[in-house]
Amino acid sequence: MRFQTASVLAAALSLVASSNAIKILLNNDDGFGSGNLRELYRFLKEDGHDVVIVAPAVQQSGQGGRSDFTTYANLTSPAQYGIIPAGAPSLGTDPNDSNIWYYNGTPAACTFVALDFVLPRYYENWEGAPDLLVAGPNYGLNLGPFVYSLSGTLGATYAAVARSIPAIAASATNDAIDYRNITNATNPATWAAKVAYTVVKEFIDNTGEDQTILPLGYGINVNIPELDLDEIPPFVKTRLTGEADVDIAAYNASTGLFTWQNIIPKSAGVNACYNGDCSLPGETYVAEGGSVSISAFTIDYTAPSNAYTDLVFGKVGALFDSGNSTSYKAKRALKSGRRLLQGREVSDL
Ligand SMILES: *[C@@H]1O[C@H](CO)[C@@H](O)[C@H](O)[C@H]1NC(C)=O
Ligand SMILES: *[C@@H]1O[C@H](CO)[C@@H](O)[C@H](O)[C@H]1NC(C)=O
Ligand SMILES: *[C@@H]1O[C@H](CO)[C@@H](O)[C@H](O)[C@H]1NC(C)=O
Ligand SMILES: *[C@@H]1O[C@H](CO)[C@@H](O)[C@H](O)[C@H]1NC(C)=O
Ligand SMILES: *[C@@H]1O[C@H](CO)[C@@H](O)[C@H](O)[C@H]1NC(C)=O
Ligand SMILES: *[C@@H]1O[C@H](CO)[C@@H](O)[C@H](O)[C@H]1NC(C)=O
Repeated sequence: MRFQTASVLAAALSLVASSNAIKILLNNDDGFGSGNLRELYRFLKEDGHDVVIVAPAVQQSGQGGRSDFTTYANLTSPAQYGIIPAGAPSLGTDPNDSNIWYYNGTPAACTFVALDFVLPRYYENWEGAPDLLVAGPNYGLNLGPFVYSLSGTLGATYAAVARSIPAIAASATNDAIDYRNITNATNPATWAAKVAYTVVKEFIDNTGEDQTILPLGYGINVNIPELDLDEIPPFVKTRLTGEADVDIAAYNASTGLFTWQNIIPKSAGVNACYNGDCSLPGETYVAEGGSVSISAFTIDYTAPSNAYTDLVFGKVGALFDSGNSTSYKAKRALKSGRRLLQGREVSDL
């Protein structure tokens, strides 16, 4: 489907319905049968939002932002928990709920399949895009800058942000649970979903008509500490860096194999603070200490304008001085002719 008229574009940019009921796309990396995901879906639907899940057919943790589309039209093995049999199409819906889709790809691929196929084809009233993507809650925390290339939950999220969709990643500590095993509200999956829902609801409730949930290029990372009860822990405004972990390759001489471990003491590199408020506590410290961390991130990875960046560019300054401005101008002219998709319209690329 192609939206090309100005009026349709304007409609797509008018994001929030007056009732505060919005269009929410859910995704994750644990699979479309995850109890955490299904409980968050339930809470959001109970609030009257339009909610669609497009999530991996099977467990896809650790894929980061990798966008891997299956090369098979049909599933070569059953989808998660045998919900869908082998041989069924690689993209389809849950037998009990046609708004819950599985796709046999990575989390970022699911975000793209949702934005470019499922929503424009089957949800025309969504006018091309959701108002918000939420990924998770993940089984396991996603803390610190290192997880941005590692976590499928974050991968699904920054894929959406890059496509101009406000997005929130949520991660918890509970064990995997088949959604069909959830029979009451007294379990860690429901509690984790409730905390994620509380944050999402706050963002929605404090967004006015015709406003976007987040500015362009912004995303949110929420980490939910271990919960023993159906109670909401304190929320703390955090930053990505500060006591964040990064991996080492740990060699096991008896097996001859490597596994990952966190480096101790923590690495300075992953904890350098260049952007944002350096006085905020790090999300790792806060979530491991028992509070809910809420970090805001942007996907502008460019180094800030400061003396360090001047130093860096100064080292290669001679290269810039010798630049051929004629060819640069020619290339720049070509680029400025391209269309920048400001909003959430479906592209016709
Ligand atoms: C669909 O619903 C039926 C009846 O509640 C249930 O027995 C079955 O397990 C459900 N199937 C899936 C895949 O959730
Ligand atoms: C995939 O499954 C459909 C039925 O769901 C079947 O019609 C089609 O032939 C299958 N394609 C392949 C390549 O196996
Ligand atoms: C679901 O419940 C069944 C039966 O109690 C159990 O065997 C299974 O391990 C559970 N699986 C998950 C992922 O919750
Ligand atoms: C609720 O379900 C969990 C499993 O998800 C079980 O361990 C617990 O005993 C149940 N509690 C009640 C009150 O039924
Ligand atoms: C190395 O691998 C062996 C065999 O799996 C295991 O028993 C042992 O605990 C491992 N050692 C370390 C330090 O992880
Ligand atoms: C600069 O690039 C243009 C186009 O590639 C070329 O025609 C021109 O000769 C170059 N000038 C110099 C000084 O290298």
